[in-house]
Amino acid sequence: MASRKLLLLPGDGIGPEAMAEVRKLIAAINENFGSGFETEEGLVGGSAYDAHGAAISDADMTKAMAADAVLFGAVGGPKWDAVPYDVRPEAGLLRLRKDMQLFANLRPAICYPALAASSSLKPEVVEGLDILIVRELTGGVYFGEPKEIIDLGNGQKRGIDTQVYDTFEIERIAGVAFELARTRQNRVTSMEKRNVMKSGVLWNEVVTQAHKAKYSDVKLDHMLADAGGMQLVRWPKQFDVIVTDNLFGDMLSDVAAMLTGSLGMLPSASLGAPDAITGKRKALYEPVHGSAPDIAGQGIANPIAMIASFAMCLRYSFNMAAEADRLEAAISAVLNEGLRTKDILSAGMTEVGTAQMGDAIISKFLALSA
Ligand code: NAD
Ligand code: IPM
Ligand code: MN
Repeated sequence: MASRKLLLLPGDGIGPEAMAEVRKLIAAINENFGSGFETEEGLVGGSAYDAHGAAISDADMTKAMAADAVLFGAVGGPKWDAVPYDVRPEAGLLRLRKDMQLFANLRPAICYPALAASSSLKPEVVEGLDILIVRELTGGVYFGEPKEIIDLGNGQKRGIDTQVYDTFEIERIAGVAFELARTRQNRVTSMEKRNVMKSGVLWNEVVTQAHKAKYSDVKLDHMLADAGGMQLVRWPKQFDVIVTDNLFGDMLSDVAAMLTGSLGMLPSASLGAPDAITGKRKALYEPVHGSAPDIAGQGIANPIAMIASFAMCLRYSFNMAAEADRLEAAISAVLNEGLRTKDILSAGMTEVGTAQMGDAIISKFLALSA
């Protein structure tokens, strides 16, 4: 059997609570199907800072580089608000993305039928929703230089972030979006702000050229990112695949999360380029949500985003599409039975905690696999 080495980085806040459910799931899959997943554990975020003074240690980075896939919980929290910028919890996640060259972040927003009424939008706006945001993850204003606060010497300071994109970065993320669109409804909407940003002008140009050269069978539209945000809330079903930069993708995916009922529902996959010889990609799977300090430690966090991120891991890192489909079907079935964590609770449904939700999904998954 091919190697199946996973590195688990639970992180902070609700990260470890959600990861506990995936750990149980992995154990159940190994026990029932002999899948042979080997897991290692590491620290990231505030928990790594507390242990090593860095948001991820070099030793854990080495483990991440060697793993077939990394499962990431969440990082951050008020406890670390005052730590130096370079070692703040979020820096651990950014280092993982940059060093592993995970340039393609796939954030599917699917509204499960049972949750159409849980969204803050009207059910007819969200029911049947199935869109995919493809976010560029290793460039743009997150990593552009200079990035600093300078003292102007007159009692004023200047904060500088730099938005930079090179042709190859836009080309490769556009390629991922077009390829994925071919497996779906064959439509891509590219979002930038070419009306005010030079990087937006280049983004638009490169996506248009890539389309013309290699993907003219896919329907391509362009939208200004602010209007795109509005359209996502007005009528999200007009979209199939959205491709956008690092910062717009961050914001638009939180917006998209609420279409599905809760931030606690949205999974993501962060992928690198396939290796020229082995074809294997570096990959990290993480929920879109953060460490949710407001509910951490209460056992009420929704573990579905984390579990659905593991489904993406099965699909993209281990070629286990049937198992991934079954895991998503198990999530849907448990929701159909009326089980709800607090964030997606509605009248007449049964409120459960993190562990009960995890257990229910695991037993449904095993039953569907029998
Ligand atoms: P957040 O995503 O942690 O929380 C936003 C809101 O959504 C909160 O009310 C929270 O309770 C709720 N929520 C989020 N996930 C939930 C879940 N699984 N179940 C139920 N409710 C859930 O965002 P924030 O409060 O803006 O950020 C908190 C910290 O997390 C910050 O330090 C931020 O930098 C960090 N963060 C980390 C990641 C990550 O690790 N990938 C992502 C986003 C934010
Ligand atoms: C996300 C988060 C991260 C981001 C933070 C924690 C660095 O908000 O993954 O959506 O901004 O990319
Ligand atoms: Mn975010």
